[in-house]
Amino acid sequence: VSRELLDRIGIEHPIVQAPMAGAATVELVVAVSEAGGLGSLACALLEPEEIRAQVEEIRSRTSRPFNLNFFCHELPVSDPARAARWRERLAAYRGELGVGSESPAMPLLEPFDGSTCAVVEELAPPVVSFHFGLPADGLLSRVKSAGCLVLSSATTVAEARWLEQKGCDAIVAQGLEAGGHRGMFLAADPTGQVGTLALVPQVVDAVGVPVVAAGGITDARGIVAALALGASAAQMGTAYLLCPESGISPLSGHSSPSRATTPRG
Ligand SMILES: Cc1cc2nc3c(=O)[nH]c(=O)nc-3n(C[C@H](O)[C@H](O)[C@H](O)COP(=O)(O)O)c2cc1C
Repeated sequence: VSRELLDRIGIEHPIVQAPMAGAATVELVVAVSEAGGLGSLACALLEPEEIRAQVEEIRSRTSRPFNLNFFCHELPVSDPARAARWRERLAAYRGELGVGSESPAMPLLEPFDGSTCAVVEELAPPVVSFHFGLPADGLLSRVKSAGCLVLSSATTVAEARWLEQKGCDAIVAQGLEAGGHRGMFLAADPTGQVGTLALVPQVVDAVGVPVVAAGGITDARGIVAALALGASAAQMGTAYLLCPESGISPLSGHSSPSRATTPRG
């Protein structure tokens, strides 16, 4: 198994803690990086000053490498008529569950832009990962010039090839099993998405850069399987949600530290 990627990042174990906006905390990032994996701070919901403060906190608690993660989506065009039709469709379920008729205000997820890029240049994290493609070429070259290793997610072979051609240093092959947002950006048809077991070897064969497997990997057996498929590491999200350092709401019903997952294998 190649250690090229692990040595380039400077981590001991082939484990990337998935960035999870709203669910992964500074505590989780520090715990994973201190344990020899790569902790990832999801920045999609954070303002520049919050990113600065959280990175300062991470750096005060570990000198090991960590990853900052950003979204590169296109902002959707607001369509009030469509939103009204959704609310109408959901009204019966809201009534049944007694959750009221108004949705809580959700913060707008801003894509990576010039001001976030300036924060990245200032903080120069060892690794930056993107979801939903990559930022515009000018911004990407600024991130690379800051010395950051760049990763992004691919959900198809075509996306993986595109990311490699744009200069990604490693590709996260995100199989259909993955929790959270699917990082689709060239693909639009969800029926064309395949599982991790099928996607990883196809991406490994199609690109020359290291591949990180993501989706449905929860323990040592899964990591060994990912490495056997040619991946250099495994990126795991859902498995970390039950850890005491996870930031998920008690409403999710799994927040008790006593239910934290124990790696098996
Ligand atoms: C709650 C949750 C939030 C997520 N948020 C992000 C995110 O902010 N950025 C990102 O690149 N990936 C995000 N992901 C996807 C992960 O990077 C990864 O692809 C996925 O967790 C792997 O599958 P697994 O959950 O089965 O381990 C999220 C996943 C989960 C479960």
